[in-house]
Amino acid sequence: MNGTIGESLKLVTVLMQSLKAPIGCEAAVAPPFTALYSVGVTLQESEYQLAAQDCFWENAGAYTGEISPVFLKDLSCSYVLVGHSERRQFFGETDAAVNRKIDAALRNDLKPVCCVGETLDQYNAKETYTVIERQIKQALVGIGARDLESIVIAYEPIWAIGTGKTATSGYAAEVHAFIRNLLGKLYDAPTADLVRIIYGGSVKTSNAEELLRESQIDGLLVGGASLDGEQFAQIIKAAEVKAVAAQ
Ligand code: 13P
Repeated sequence: MNGTIGESLKLVTVLMQSLKAPIGCEAAVAPPFTALYSVGVTLQESEYQLAAQDCFWENAGAYTGEISPVFLKDLSCSYVLVGHSERRQFFGETDAAVNRKIDAALRNDLKPVCCVGETLDQYNAKETYTVIERQIKQALVGIGARDLESIVIAYEPIWAIGTGKTATSGYAAEVHAFIRNLLGKLYDAPTADLVRIIYGGSVKTSNAEELLRESQIDGLLVGGASLDGEQFAQIIKAAEVKAVAAQ
């Protein structure tokens, strides 16, 4: 919940001045709902994609205050975050709700970015894998292998979000490998290999390259650092470096 329309426009302007177009990688901007239209218009001729921070699971109806995936498609969004830890933590979003939202996004040709991650208590109790497995299995109930490719999984350890504490790249890579292996078991290995698994939690210009050096880390979900257009551009440049290295 950061950014008026004016602030969001200023941010994408600085972003595009710092990096006109991401090369070899994809970059999406996810402003608040209220700024989606204006930011979308600004990004229209650019290589940047537009993303929303949440959506409801129904297309229309008496659901006062909710945002339909149809509305997001109408605004030219390509991606939508689903199950962000703050939605789960502060708004009681359940795994079942996340599943319905993923399904609704896919039905409307939006790519869901499904966020998963453990709390500090769960991390300390060594429950990370149990929590992630439950979140992913329940998020993907009824989702077919053909749709899996359109889903991005964002691993965001809650203890690393906005705290300045980043998971080490090695730890994040291990959890990513666990997620890919789980997807392989739920579907099949070739399908699992197509899924982009990205990391979020105190990503900064100083740690982006190191995180992206891990083969299991396909991209980043950036919070605080993306509020500065120049820093956001620097982080995208780190993804460009990874893309070049992969060629
Ligand atoms: P920070 O990068 O500020 O830790 O936020 C991560 C996040 O939640 C992105 O969705």
